[in-house]
Amino acid sequence: MKVAIASDHGGFEYKAKITEYLTSAGIEFKDFGPESTASVDYPDYAGPVAEAVASGEFDRGILICGTGIGMSIAANKVPGIRCALVHDVFTAQVTREHNNSNVLAMGQRVIGEGLMLLIVKTWLNAEFEGGRHQQRIDKIAQLESCNG
Ligand code: RB5
Repeated sequence: MKVAIASDHGGFEYKAKITEYLTSAGIEFKDFGPESTASVDYPDYAGPVAEAVASGEFDRGILICGTGIGMSIAANKVPGIRCALVHDVFTAQVTREHNNSNVLAMGQRVIGEGLMLLIVKTWLNAEFEGGRHQQRIDKIAQLESCNG
């Protein structure tokens, strides 16, 4: 699995914690920045990660900002992206099983580090169930092309 990851200044510390985990777990990843806590605009980081996942270059994306909201809104503008804003373990699991989410967004100012890392591990390991959920994913894709 190849993971694309980015944050803004509001998520910088958690990005570092996640890349530390990915390294220790032997999961391939690319850090799309930023490289410091200087103030940046989250769409500038959500966009490249979302495009890298949508193109198939990366399997999954992880985006961290202060709340996770700006990152998730921005990522979901890119066709093919199903970005889930997650702050609990249950939705981390079910958004993979039901929504086949390919990008995970979280807020560094919302949850603690232990929960955040458990969400990352849960989301990376959970599998899409397909079946009845696939037709719903297909309908989301139809909405993207305005043919809904
Ligand atoms: C930056 O202050 C903050 O607005 C950003 O990290 C994020 O929470 C936006 O949704």
